[in-house]
Amino acid sequence: MPEDRPIPVADLDWSPDRARAFADRIVDLYTGYLESLPEAPAAPQVTPASARAALRMAVPDEPLSDDDICAHLQALLDLSTRPGSGGFLAYISGGGTVPGAISDLLASGLNANVGGWAISPAASEVEEQLVGWLAGRFGLPSSAGGMIVQGGSLANLTGLKLARDHAWPPGRTDGVGAGPPLAFYTSSESHFTIERAADVLGLGEASVRKVSVDADMRMRVDELERMIADDVAKGVRPAAVVATAGTTGTGAIDPLADVAAVASRHGVWFHVDAAYGGAVAVSDTLRPLLAGIELADSITFDAHKWLYAPLTTAFILVRDAALLNGSFSAHAAYVEQERDVIERGPDMGMEGLQLSRSFSALRVWVALLAHGRSAFARRIEHDVDLTSWLARRVEETPELEVACAPSLSICCFRYHPDGVSDEEYLDRLNMRLMTEIQADGEVFPSNAQVHERTALRSCIVTYRTEAVHLQILMDKALEIGARLHTGGTLVTP
Ligand SMILES: Cc1ncc(COP(=O)(O)O)c(C=O)c1O
Repeated sequence: MPEDRPIPVADLDWSPDRARAFADRIVDLYTGYLESLPEAPAAPQVTPASARAALRMAVPDEPLSDDDICAHLQALLDLSTRPGSGGFLAYISGGGTVPGAISDLLASGLNANVGGWAISPAASEVEEQLVGWLAGRFGLPSSAGGMIVQGGSLANLTGLKLARDHAWPPGRTDGVGAGPPLAFYTSSESHFTIERAADVLGLGEASVRKVSVDADMRMRVDELERMIADDVAKGVRPAAVVATAGTTGTGAIDPLADVAAVASRHGVWFHVDAAYGGAVAVSDTLRPLLAGIELADSITFDAHKWLYAPLTTAFILVRDAALLNGSFSAHAAYVEQERDVIERGPDMGMEGLQLSRSFSALRVWVALLAHGRSAFARRIEHDVDLTSWLARRVEETPELEVACAPSLSICCFRYHPDGVSDEEYLDRLNMRLMTEIQADGEVFPSNAQVHERTALRSCIVTYRTEAVHLQILMDKALEIGARLHTGGTLVTP
């Protein structure tokens, strides 16, 4: 052997035995976490200072022992909010499926880069199959396709990039400044990522027209029609109508078929943000709630919301899959291939915003294999039932009132002491109530603005939530609400 040949450096190359020993320790931590969930509060008592004190450490030059690493990770778990706890009812954030979490080890272990088919043939196939299954549940035609992206924000951005290119095809090369003014239309209840997408796509946030909502927080179609007509008369080109299937605040579903009809009449791209509510497509019983979604040109769906998948696993589904390549393809010498010599599938890195892509499909796929679709459908239906139950209990309780009819798995309600009519005081009271219930930590709700009034909000996307957790939420609201109201903490009316 030549003298100058570098000797191997294998420090990072753990043997299978070493890998198993470490994995066993991590699995112990994970199963310990699962065991703790029924009794542990949804949120720990923690401050930025206590988190820093417990977790900050210098990056070591030499390895730590497994015992030291596990002690550190246990401290991390102890100081973590538990979105997997049944009492976690905030935002639209769940705990992730157990098979999903475990299969993430395999996905990261394999580390397939699903940007290129040649380096991820099996992973690309799994993702394609999953996309096809979802597109079928939404009722899209066989021309449909799509991919996983890192969250609903990017899915909305991708869908609206397709819409922009549809409305102004030279936009890709010449920019939006070279064309007519473009506009997006969405309800005042839609997610802020629609405006963010308009900004990123060069249209500017002001190009997003906010259509008002009806008493049930659904987009007013007459208003949509009027706004489009006004813009067209002024020379503005409508680029997309964005309906929401499950608004973030109250779970409202816009009248999808009616909105689609308006979009179609004006030849405008129809995007549905079903990041949250899209999950009901998995249930044959609830699927009719999404009637009209099959007319969409593009759909955002977050599996990490109500399909309970680990973060972040979102889908962008497109009626005509070929458009993705038209809007995102690129040429570079370092990814050239002789496709006439060797057969290969599509490179998903050329069909969307991300080039390198993780194998996120596996966590959804394995959970579907391990539980079966019906288990997801049953649980989603149960979440809807639990939410109706909560709304009924709230209605029966004198100091509580629902802020609007419950929709999907969201119920918004407020504490309203007898005889108080000052709405601003009630807003402050309910905002503080949310803060105090969160600080208490046993259950963890968030808030919503419903017709401009502040309400507590319970959103079930954790499959461990049961009536007992919702009862605790109501009990806390009554107990802490009474203390805040009578204790003079807030300026009284
Ligand atoms: C309706 C809706 N769209 C989009 C998003 C953004 O999704 P993500 O947080 O996955 O980026 C959310 C997040 O809550 C949402 O509720």
